[in-house]
Amino acid sequence: MQHFILGIESSCDDTSAAIIADDVILSNVTAGQEVHRNFGGVVPELASRAHQQNIIPVIDTAIQKANIGKNQLSAIAFTRGPGLLGSLLVGTSFAKAFSLGLNIPLIEVDHLQAHILSHFIRNTDRTNPVPSFPFLCLTVSGGHTQFVWLRDYFDMEIIGQTIDDAAGEAFDKAAKIMGLPYPGGPMIDKLAQDGDPKRFTFSKPNIPGLNFSFSGLKTSFLYFLRDELKKDPGFIEKNKHDLCASIQATIVDMLMSKLKIAINDTGVHPRVSTRGKLPDVAIAGGVSANSGLRKALEQARDNYGWNIFIPPLQYSTDNAAMIAIAGYFKFLKGDFSDQAAIPYARSKTM
Ligand code: KG4
Ligand code: ZN
Repeated sequence: MQHFILGIESSCDDTSAAIIADDVILSNVTAGQEVHRNFGGVVPELASRAHQQNIIPVIDTAIQKANIGKNQLSAIAFTRGPGLLGSLLVGTSFAKAFSLGLNIPLIEVDHLQAHILSHFIRNTDRTNPVPSFPFLCLTVSGGHTQFVWLRDYFDMEIIGQTIDDAAGEAFDKAAKIMGLPYPGGPMIDKLAQDGDPKRFTFSKPNIPGLNFSFSGLKTSFLYFLRDELKKDPGFIEKNKHDLCASIQATIVDMLMSKLKIAINDTGVHPRVSTRGKLPDVAIAGGVSANSGLRKALEQARDNYGWNIFIPPLQYSTDNAAMIAIAGYFKFLKGDFSDQAAIPYARSKTM
């Protein structure tokens, strides 16, 4: 028998709902929030209000697009955290009420685990390949940058992470310094297309093992621009394409050099060993939408024979399809939540 799972995501500034039939995607509907654009970043209270406005229409559309009735749903999966508390409360409260009304199980999902599990969402014809366990995932989002070693769907271990800013934050802060509109990451990616990635160089930190540090890059970018602007106030405008291409190349380089260590040097972490065979390599999270990172991973596949998994763009940034697939795997285990579940702001399940 087929199981229909509704996934609900509301951790930050995207209200999203998706329906899957077992592991096959039927619909994935997202309402973004333009309201933050004028403020140069997400304003938590405005985000909660916009979720409150969007959640019913988004869920209604997802059910209609899936061409099912709400009474056919088997369970409701929702993001419990990490994220903005006020935003999470909207999705959590709706999920609880809907599961109570329909008398079906409620399933809590961790947002970061869901980003990784998005690699198991199947197309309608189920022809897309999925990673084999154990595999390595580099999760790069607005709040997190981590290497996760997966032995099974929910058997995940963080084997390296940033000690300060996340990769997405590095993109967003660089964009802000340049006066680019929010959200900065996609804007840098866009402008970088016509720029020279080798024009400017920024110092990279020397962090041991599989950890990262991005806060120094922001400072070095800030000081570099401050000095150049003293000489020429039009420096950013004249060089914005090369600046974006160079900062993007630096961030991608930092990620890729650690990824190479993680994959090749099995001595770095005893768990990263699949008896002489290279493990599958996946990327996940908002920054996995970055064209520079996607190209660099494709090059590693061509040059070193890595078996790579890059999420389709619609599953890179925040979406509910990833919540639905994570919910499906929990549904199979009978791992349900009760009505007392409350959101958590900081990462806790891994
Ligand atoms: O996973 P996500 O959508 O939300 C979080 O869970 O944080 O990630 C958002 C982050 C932001 O920092 C955004 O600037 C970045 O992902 N991002 C990008 C691109 N698209 C989104 N960064 C670089 N290039 C992109 N194309
Ligand atoms: Zn995310």
